[in-house]
Amino acid sequence: AYVVTEACIKCKYMDCVEVCPVDCFYVGANTLVIHPDECIDCGVCEPECPADAILPDSEPEAEKWLEMNRQYAQIWPNITRKGESPADADQWKGVADKFEKHFD
Ligand code: SF4
Ligand code: F3S
Repeated sequence: AYVVTEACIKCKYMDCVEVCPVDCFYVGANTLVIHPDECIDCGVCEPECPADAILPDSEPEAEKWLEMNRQYAQIWPNITRKGESPADADQWKGVADKFEKHFD
């Protein structure tokens, strides 16, 4: 499966949701997650993300995000259309350590 990682937090560009053939993205206040059991590993969302936030779970750094994605995909609503990104999205691009304060 592919997973959404820390780089998405507060950026939330949502280009990813438009291309997913199985609509397996779920949305929180500041970030998105992928339901890893619904993802068919097509890989088309990965290059669409301007923040490089999407990784295959085979990447070592994706490992800790896999459970996070699975857990929140069961709580948050499904999203299939790109909405309005945060006005300050570009300012959060590439910022480190967003998880602790801003994962929501
Ligand atoms: Fe959807 Fe494909 Fe991305 Fe999985 S890899 S989330 S199926 S677009
Ligand atoms: Fe997040 Fe990138 Fe999608 S910033 S909402 S994973 S396009």
